[in-house]
Amino acid sequence: MSYEQNLKSYYENILASVQDGIVVISKEQIITTFNPAIEEMSGISSSHAIGKSLESVFSGESRLLELTDKTINSGITFSDSDFQIIRRWDRRVFPISLIISPFSDEGGNIAGAILVLRDMSRAKELEENLRKADRLASMGTLAAGMAHEIKNPLGGLRGAAQLLQEEIKSEKYREYTGVIIKETDRINSIVENLLNLSNPKPLKLKSVNIHKILGDILLLEEKILKRMKITVVRDFDPSLPSVYIDEGRITQVFLNIVKNAVEAIKKGGELTLTTKIFYDYIVIEEGAKSHTKMVLIEVKDTGEGFEDDVLSNLFTPFFSTKSKGTGLGLVISHRIIEEHKGRIKIQNRTDRKGASVQVFLPIVV
Ligand SMILES: Nc1ncnc2c1ncn2[C@@H]1O[C@H](COP(=O)(O)OP(=O)(O)OP(=O)(O)O)[C@@H](O)[C@H]1O
Ligand SMILES: [Mg+2]
Repeated sequence: MSYEQNLKSYYENILASVQDGIVVISKEQIITTFNPAIEEMSGISSSHAIGKSLESVFSGESRLLELTDKTINSGITFSDSDFQIIRRWDRRVFPISLIISPFSDEGGNIAGAILVLRDMSRAKELEENLRKADRLASMGTLAAGMAHEIKNPLGGLRGAAQLLQEEIKSEKYREYTGVIIKETDRINSIVENLLNLSNPKPLKLKSVNIHKILGDILLLEEKILKRMKITVVRDFDPSLPSVYIDEGRITQVFLNIVKNAVEAIKKGGELTLTTKIFYDYIVIEEGAKSHTKMVLIEVKDTGEGFEDDVLSNLFTPFFSTKSKGTGLGLVISHRIIEEHKGRIKIQNRTDRKGASVQVFLPIVV
């Protein structure tokens, strides 16, 4: 291989290893380099792009073309941190931080420009999570402040309704007081949930068998499962080790998940509970990985599954598609699992229609 060829493949290797999209253009704005990362983001192949004008390959990207013009004409670097690129084949939108820098020939004249396109999807996702956590925290402060103001009169209301119920003879009116009591209980549990979300109490950890928790929940839900004609499939791994958890809180998690499944199935269907050991790699420090053993508990139903907009809002407080839902079930479950250093993964089933909720809990030995 000649020295030039060596050099060329050396630079090509470097460009292929860079995670940022890199496009190099001549002064006439003809593309000379188009690395794999930009192929991936744009959905345009380098063989299609190289030799073409930037304008023809990125037609419609007026902001990118405008900034490139400015760079080539002025010799100054321009950037836009709020740019986005839409991949051709699946219309996926990549939030992009774009920097366009000029480069010169030996004589100091502008010879072209280098466009660096950094995929900000992950950063945006983290930012969004942070915003959500922040929202949750401020909501918690508000909830804590309001809790007493709400709970005291609510207690009075409930007490009065109960007294009334004992006095009233007419069945019809007793039904009304029943509604008052039921609804005050509902408000009370929402306030309690919000309080827990903002000021979680320390975990009371002990060694617990997950199958016992799941069994208790199925017992608790037995009536409704029967009434809704839901068949329960228990696919339990008998060798599953115990986990070190807060039993009360983890029960709350699976109760929320099972309730959602029942509500999704509506009438006639199948609820599948699977447990197994799961081996996972977790990143501990600066990229170092550790092998961890976790238990995986999966709850599958045969409901309608999730719409895309629902999936992206599952952990948004008060997001609910149900007329009687508070939209806190999964937010609380997510929080509890995080406290246990576990993970929750929610998606549509791949084997058939329906939802799958996977909870991973670490096995501490
Ligand atoms: N198994 C499921 N199948 C389909 N959609 C689901 C399932 N589980 C949850 N969802 C969707 O996610 C939304 C949020 O669920 P979440 O449990 O957080 O709140 P909710 O059930 O509406 O109210 P609640 O606070 O009473 O639990 C639901 O309104 C529903 O649209
Ligand atoms: Mg729910």
